[in-house]
Amino acid sequence: MTEQPIPAGAPHPYPGKLIIVEGIDGSGKSTQLLLLNKWLEAKGHKVFFTEWNSSELVKDTTKKGKKNKSLTPTTFSLLHATDFASRLYHDILPPLKAGMIVLADRYMYTAFARDVVRGVSPDWVRKLYSFAIKPDMAFYFKVPIEVAISRLLGGTRGQFKYYEAGMDMNLSQDLTESFRIFQSRILAQYDKIVDEFQLITMDATKDIAAQQETMRKLVDEALKDYKPRRGTHGRRTLFWRRFDVPKSE
Ligand SMILES: Nc1ncnc2c1ncn2[C@@H]1O[C@H](COP(=O)(O)OP(=O)(O)OP(=O)(O)O)[C@@H](O)[C@H]1O
Ligand SMILES: [Mg+2]
Repeated sequence: MTEQPIPAGAPHPYPGKLIIVEGIDGSGKSTQLLLLNKWLEAKGHKVFFTEWNSSELVKDTTKKGKKNKSLTPTTFSLLHATDFASRLYHDILPPLKAGMIVLADRYMYTAFARDVVRGVSPDWVRKLYSFAIKPDMAFYFKVPIEVAISRLLGGTRGQFKYYEAGMDMNLSQDLTESFRIFQSRILAQYDKIVDEFQLITMDATKDIAAQQETMRKLVDEALKDYKPRRGTHGRRTLFWRRFDVPKSE
């Protein structure tokens, strides 16, 4: 596949739609995106889902670096960017070109928030992701840190993990306290990012159903001009039908 960069900030030229969610850990973005996915599929749309840090190419290396705690802010940032580049070209662009709706759980804004808190330059990380395309809709789930903590500790995931709590930054020896400081700094970065990239702010303290209703209304509105392309399968059927020999002959 040829990799033709689109000018940063410009709308992408593909027939599909890219919808992304952002927010700190525990803000409820995966919960909302999953519900949106089910709703879109029920409406008959073809949907492709992709999430941060999940490419086969990079996954094992990141895992290894996390395990032996050898990741520096720059290597962490570069690994995430590599993961993103791989998924952009293999998972995001092909379905968008085929006219599908792509849902992404976290996008480049996660790097702009987290990597900068880890000490990476804001300009450098924005340039690093300059190959990325602009999403059609970007939702930011805004939630106070204490709400996120109580949701996460009250859920099934148990204690925070080392990097998720920012323990590599020596903010506190206590996991929860480190998480609180680290994620509060990320929140402050997100506040800047929301203005800079015009993300849609969702009140993520509301209950799950209320947020989903708002999200669906906004997506419905944004999909008004969306005409899904017929897939290649449909075209192939038509092609062969043209050459069908009538049964009577
Ligand atoms: N609006 C809500 N009210 C109460 N609890 C919620 C709400 N939304 C999600 N939760 C619960 O909070 C927890 C975290 O939600 P979720 O996994 O969706 O967050 P997330 O933003 O995707 O977090 P992460 O970034 O760690 O993946 C889950 O147990 C979920 O059921
Ligand atoms: Mg999630």
